[in-house]
Amino acid sequence: MCGIIAAATNRNVGKLLVQGLHKMEYRGYDSAGIALHQETSIVHLRCLGKVRRLEEKMIEEKPKGKVGIAHTRWATHGEPSEVNAHPHSSKERVYIVHNGIIENYIELKKELIEYGYAFSSQTDSELIAHLLDYFLNQKNTMIDAMHSIKEKMQGAYAIAAIDQEDSDSFYLARNNSPLLLGVGSEELFAASDPLAISDLTDKFIFLEDGDVVEASSKAYKIYDKNKEEVQRELTHLNISAQATSKGEYKHFMEKEIFEQPTAILNTIDGRIGGEDVLENIFGEGSNELLAQVKRIQVVACGTSLHAGRVAANWFSSISQVPTQIDYASEYRYKNPYIDKNTLLVTISQSGETADTLSALRYAKSQNYLGSLTICNVPTSSIARESDYVLLTNAGPEIGVASTKAFTTQLTALMLLALSIAKAKDINPKLRTRLATALRALPEIVSQSLELRGQLIEIAPSIANKDNALFLGRGMFYPIAKEGALKLKEISYIHAEAYPAGELKHGPLALIDENMPVIALAPESDFAEKLISNLEEVKARGGTLYVFGNAAGDLSIDSGKLINMPECDFLLTPILYTVPLQILSYEVALLRGTDIDQPRNLAKSVTVE
Ligand code: F6R
Repeated sequence: MCGIIAAATNRNVGKLLVQGLHKMEYRGYDSAGIALHQETSIVHLRCLGKVRRLEEKMIEEKPKGKVGIAHTRWATHGEPSEVNAHPHSSKERVYIVHNGIIENYIELKKELIEYGYAFSSQTDSELIAHLLDYFLNQKNTMIDAMHSIKEKMQGAYAIAAIDQEDSDSFYLARNNSPLLLGVGSEELFAASDPLAISDLTDKFIFLEDGDVVEASSKAYKIYDKNKEEVQRELTHLNISAQATSKGEYKHFMEKEIFEQPTAILNTIDGRIGGEDVLENIFGEGSNELLAQVKRIQVVACGTSLHAGRVAANWFSSISQVPTQIDYASEYRYKNPYIDKNTLLVTISQSGETADTLSALRYAKSQNYLGSLTICNVPTSSIARESDYVLLTNAGPEIGVASTKAFTTQLTALMLLALSIAKAKDINPKLRTRLATALRALPEIVSQSLELRGQLIEIAPSIANKDNALFLGRGMFYPIAKEGALKLKEISYIHAEAYPAGELKHGPLALIDENMPVIALAPESDFAEKLISNLEEVKARGGTLYVFGNAAGDLSIDSGKLINMPECDFLLTPILYTVPLQILSYEVALLRGTDIDQPRNLAKSVTVE
């Protein structure tokens, strides 16, 4: 959610900053901008639209400088436009880029207007530049001014700033928004995500809330929230170029769908031994903790929440533990009652989702047994702040629509269900069955990728519709919800999901020849009832696209039955996800949407 980058080097910084912005475009892409020191002045370029527009502007203007900041935006306050694009400046002296939301901006803006500052944008971010200028005019150094603005501002921010009167350095401040330093040889970088600068350095320092930094090409100093100079740990990360490029694929989403067999293999790698899950895979002492779990509270958002909904079935049937699930954005506001021995489980691909992070922080002040996260990014705030972590090891997910993150989250959640059962010493046979089935899963997921040809055939009959309905029962209802979410976010077709048995309680009224109905029909205890639900759709002229082997006896007049590869029933939700992802992708391709960066969205949602 907005990408910020800064650099102080001995080479021309403009190109490096723009390359970094390209890698962070998944965080927001409605406008972009750059400010860099060029001799005695600052070059300031901004434009509406994607980073390539800024790049074109830079090719025309050819700015040259060694220290600068840049930004790719996801609008919160103020429409996407050139004036609202970052960097914002105050009196052409201080320039800032910001990720986050300043919650008390109305009050601060009023104060600054009283001091004579004029605002040219509708953003909350512009006031940061004016506040800095205000404190600099009180004969403060830039570091003092950075500390002072922190005392005034409430909310979430990662800020990078430059001062026209100090051409060697950039400055940073962080509170509740990701920000890290990259340490090179005689050059210093900063970014919202290590991916942005991973081809410039492999040495990173993850800043903490309250930190303020002064960085030049030669040195950096970090001050903590008490204004004390501190040393922060240097982390070595090798992010391969292959992991961050599309390779032979047209889109990151397509690549990430097809990476799923390997991603799932990486999730289970080193976590299953013999015929059971290994002990303490969530960290030292996790086995003792899991033995005590009596309830689970899941908090997550979007796709990650859908993974939690599927897992609730597993926690119940495999681990004998009941689960409460809440949207992270809602959880704190319902005054949750926390029963004794409840484990908090957060699920997050990015590990930076503000709603989930706030829920975790709130939960840590409550009476939970402990906090455990299923996360894809080891250096993220959620991974660092949770008591126990299981990394999904899916590799970077760059397409905005989550694919391999979801199936690896499900795989990791199955490992959690098995670990709880093992810690409680229950269901040994079931554990052996599922450990064996998990080992076979990557191969079966590979087989499901081969359904692509059939999905390409049906995509045109969905691509020309305005609505779609997804149906599932039991564990497949959250998969239906995930299928609907994928379709709507990348193809902009309105899609809804229902438990199939609910159809007759209202949504059946929507069925006609313009409403494609996509149903998940695995062999199961509920198969017969589900088929009856599908007959009800058929009788009303609905077009059915049915995935699964339980629909064998159903004869349909319009639509298609798609047989699925076989796997252990409890793992089928993972398998059935894959064709729904491919179908959405193929539909979006026909509709010509921006698949990796769908309108209005951003990947890492760091505002509440
Ligand atoms: C949908 C999607 C989002 C995310 C949600 C949570 O395709 O990607 O719904 O799942 O924003 O993000 P994380 O998992 O990073 O916390």
